Amino acid sequence: MAALSYPRAQEILHAHLHTKKMLRHSFSVAVAMAEAAKDLGEDAALWEAVSLIHDVDFEEYPEAEHCQHLREVLEPEGVDEWMIVSLGRHGYDRYPVTPPETLYERVLCAVDRLCWVAVAAARRREDAGEALTVAETLALLQDPEFDAKFDSAHVYRDVGRYEFPLEQVADWAVRGVRRYAHEIAECRLERKV
Ligand SMILES: [Fe+2]
Ligand SMILES: [Fe+2]
Repeated sequence: MAALSYPRAQEILHAHLHTKKMLRHSFSVAVAMAEAAKDLGEDAALWEAVSLIHDVDFEEYPEAEHCQHLREVLEPEGVDEWMIVSLGRHGYDRYPVTPPETLYERVLCAVDRLCWVAVAAARRREDAGEALTVAETLALLQDPEFDAKFDSAHVYRDVGRYEFPLEQVADWAVRGVRRYAHEIAECRLERKV
């Protein structure tokens, strides 16, 4: 597996994403993927850096077009082919592309939406999420007001599809948020493994 350094991933991220919402999300997915990699015996630094740029075409091409333009954004940045392919597959329910296959691809798809929930749960707390719990995060999924805006069914669908237990996926997301609660809240992404 070729490398992508965290500082280089940060440069690419900041060249394409500017809203606090997307920066917080990108960072939360990166740190959740690092936690997953540690549990799964994978390269945490690499998973973290690659995941930081998983939504990098979102502001230029939102919603339905999101993911379809990752190649045109990432190729000129010199990002490795496997990273472009793997990241593109997280949009497989929106455009015709091979569904996630590798462990990295399946974990990314399982944890991506849950990271939105973990960050939303953290933002409801006075400590920015320093002591956020899995139970609290999963409880938010059951909150009718949250569900009306977010559609929690997508989280259950994603987690179920890749056959990871919901609590395990939530634990990756929550551990990431807890470790970097204030950095995520303030959009400080200076993480280096
Ligand atoms: Fe995405
Ligand atoms: Fe995402």
